[in-house]
Amino acid sequence: MTSPQPVVNPLRDPRDKRLPRIAGPSSVVIFGVTGDLSRKKLMPAIYDLANRGLLPAGFSLIGFARRDWDDEDFMAVVHDAVKQYARTPFSEEVWRHLAEGIRFVQGTFDDDVAFDTLAQTLRDLDHVRGTGGNHAFYLSIPPGAFPTVLQQLKRSGLCEQQAGEWRRVVIEKPFGHDLESAQALNALVGDVFPSSSVFRIDHYLGKETVQNLLALRFANQLFEPIWNSHYVDHVQITQAEDIGVGGRAGYYDGIGAARDVIQNHLLQLMALTAMEEPVSFEPRELRREKAKVLSAVQVPDDILSGTARGQYSTGWQGGVKVQGYLEEDGIPPSSTTETYAAVKLLIDTRRWAGVPFYLRTGKRLGKRVTEIAVVFKRAPHLPFSHTDTEELGSNALVIRVQPDEGITIRFGSKVPGPSMEVRDVNMDFSYGQSFTEASPEAYERLILDVLLGEPSLFPQDEEVELSWKILDPIEKVWAKTKAQPEAYLSGTWGPASADAMMARDGRTWRRP
Ligand code: BG6
Repeated sequence: MTSPQPVVNPLRDPRDKRLPRIAGPSSVVIFGVTGDLSRKKLMPAIYDLANRGLLPAGFSLIGFARRDWDDEDFMAVVHDAVKQYARTPFSEEVWRHLAEGIRFVQGTFDDDVAFDTLAQTLRDLDHVRGTGGNHAFYLSIPPGAFPTVLQQLKRSGLCEQQAGEWRRVVIEKPFGHDLESAQALNALVGDVFPSSSVFRIDHYLGKETVQNLLALRFANQLFEPIWNSHYVDHVQITQAEDIGVGGRAGYYDGIGAARDVIQNHLLQLMALTAMEEPVSFEPRELRREKAKVLSAVQVPDDILSGTARGQYSTGWQGGVKVQGYLEEDGIPPSSTTETYAAVKLLIDTRRWAGVPFYLRTGKRLGKRVTEIAVVFKRAPHLPFSHTDTEELGSNALVIRVQPDEGITIRFGSKVPGPSMEVRDVNMDFSYGQSFTEASPEAYERLILDVLLGEPSLFPQDEEVELSWKILDPIEKVWAKTKAQPEAYLSGTWGPASADAMMARDGRTWRRP
């Protein structure tokens, strides 16, 4: 066995006191290497981890796909993806070490021989590069292919770990399309891998700003006393994108904005915003608290008036004319898939009784922004004359998840001058200004956690099923109406029905 060279870490600052969390001997097998996610996120994240010195010396990356490629072809694909999308600077030395462990196995998912070849390739890598029998199987594939690949991992014995080894499976969303299919998928995965080996990706949980929500709430004395229905009027969670469906028509059409983003990312953000303090940050405790929130969620009695659906039409974005959803490549002209969804949810707990959580997501909106805005009640009494407070809104604490990561607190302040005029001002914390180090990409954190066997940031089966329980009744009502989602102009903030939904509650959406 030749011993691989240790990976150098040109980015590590010797004054950094934090202990590096370096993965032990291991490899990652990606199914679906020809897909967008793999090229834009997974391969670059693996390179960035190598560049930060967080991968073991003999780390290996194996691609599995139908393409007629050999190792060199695949290496070239990874190289291009890294050059184009990696976060950290390109280093020939880091690349050379990483490339030594790159392999490609050609085959279709139903091809027994290809999976036997994969098993042999992994055994060889254990021997040649010291990957130690520790293998993560990353399923970046359409959900329809999950059963076949899982069965193949079982048949070929790839899921079986010997003493001192580990085998893990990483599952990309969508994790089912309703409660029933999610339960079936959980059962299927559970038949092949023990639950401790299953890592379901919700990449929002890998974002630094999302993890900072826990620090904000539980490391400070300042916010928690007012984090409840006595002080909070409502919460708005927004995930807005300026891009359209792009080349993802095949995945997106028939799924829509609610299943694509609300069921996972937004409900996770809501759970982290609303949950009680866990007794510790042990994965089990964290998940327990999130699950408690999800199980207390109530959808509006009148679903149609407490939700909104929209579909983008032609419009202008950044000075460029863009086409509507129905004109996009691969979208049937009669599609009723929503590209915008807003829902009002309540959480039936003492802390949140009567406080609506408004969740919205959409494509081709005014700009790309994700934020959690906790909007407070007005002060019970204002000892000023009415005209002095005309420009005073509600206090708000806004967690800016992306871009321009940070936190804003909005409050009233006296306008300089002889009169006591009070107007809203903002106080800002910005990651870029407070820390010199750029935040890692979500996928860097999550892939590293898979290799370390650290499950905190991965939703488990119960959370996934609870989230579908919330969305299913809404989807059912929407499906029953068979209504075309309301059109909204690209580059605007969604359909008029979403504004009307808020107006019925006497509130307005924020314009981030
Ligand atoms: C994905 C959705 O999970 O999240 C996409 O499938 C969406 O439709 C994406 O564009 C948004 O992720 P981010 O990290 O760019 O906000």
